[in-house]
Amino acid sequence: MQSALLICVLLTSFATSLTTRLVHQFPPGTWLENLAIRPGGSVLVTTLAPDAAVYEIDPSAPRSQSTKLVSKFASSTGAFGITASPEGSDTFYVITSNSTVNDFTETPGTNKIQRITFPGPKVEFVSLVKDANVLNGLTALNEHTILAADSIQGAVYAINTVTGAYRKVITDPLMSRPTAQGLGINGLRVQGNELYFTNSARFLLAKLPLKPDGTAAGKAVKISSSKTVPIARQEQYDDFATDQNHAYATTMGGNVIQEVDICTGQTRLIAGNLNSTSIAEPTSAQVFRTYGRPATLFITTGGAYVIPVYQNGQKYQNIGGQLVAVQLDGE
Ligand SMILES: *[C@@H]1O[C@H](CO)[C@@H](O)[C@H](O)[C@H]1NC(C)=O
Ligand SMILES: *[C@@H]1O[C@H](CO)[C@@H](O)[C@H](O)[C@H]1NC(C)=O
Repeated sequence: MQSALLICVLLTSFATSLTTRLVHQFPPGTWLENLAIRPGGSVLVTTLAPDAAVYEIDPSAPRSQSTKLVSKFASSTGAFGITASPEGSDTFYVITSNSTVNDFTETPGTNKIQRITFPGPKVEFVSLVKDANVLNGLTALNEHTILAADSIQGAVYAINTVTGAYRKVITDPLMSRPTAQGLGINGLRVQGNELYFTNSARFLLAKLPLKPDGTAAGKAVKISSSKTVPIARQEQYDDFATDQNHAYATTMGGNVIQEVDICTGQTRLIAGNLNSTSIAEPTSAQVFRTYGRPATLFITTGGAYVIPVYQNGQKYQNIGGQLVAVQLDGE
């Protein structure tokens, strides 16, 4: 108990901004939307622009050789959430649809689930979630069920990865959009019996108790706000990572990562800077832990594609989506 308290105090006093390492930067015109990590530590990233694709990046390889294309999805314009399923396996599910970064229009009838299986990789179509408007974040519930967030409907869909069957399992006021503008529920992660999720337009991270079948066992409760990021504008949460007692939430044009203690709701800024391109428009995050190595937070960015970074009168825009690594402990 005492050492846990001590760690909290030390982190609060020193680690105001952790060092960031650029693992890979894509060409201008690329928007990285989401990521998942293979068991060996390779990172799979999805692109919303210039097209719908998944790339694999080996963070331990020299930068010039680190990145290869896994798959393009020609029948869609963008790729969104990606998740390993079951958790820890080398099988992944990806959302693809006809939404684009430039025009985040509702695209009912185009939201698809695709499977990528390693080794191979083998790529297969799994399901057309016809009733969804904009599927965004994706997470694993159990061995053959994944949960997808619909940012327009403020709802969660459960998709059976064996049969492709789907159903809307959750709606909650904290998942909904406050107005007909913007995005409601965005990222989602299952930890234990809880579903954690961000709602962009409501500036919040919340949790909701889950039943084993993915339906709600209660109402959602707010944990934290993206407005506590101490920068000029009111930043919205995008997707996030969960790890032990923390969430690592991305802040789009805030260009920073906010750490949230999911027990107390306390927040602090741990990496990035509003006026730096080191994390330019972060979109999602995942923590990689492996025995004997420090935990690493991987972050995808849109590369200031939509919201420019201003630094002493200079404007940086569309610099290319980035994969950024931040060492969380052991420094
Ligand atoms: C979705 O985008 C693909 C690729 O551009 C296109 O071939 C397809 O016709 C589009 N579907 C709809 C319903 O617009
Ligand atoms: C930092 O970024 C904000 C928002 O883009 C901008 O208004 C401000 O001028 C920038 N500050 C510096 C020192 O460049």
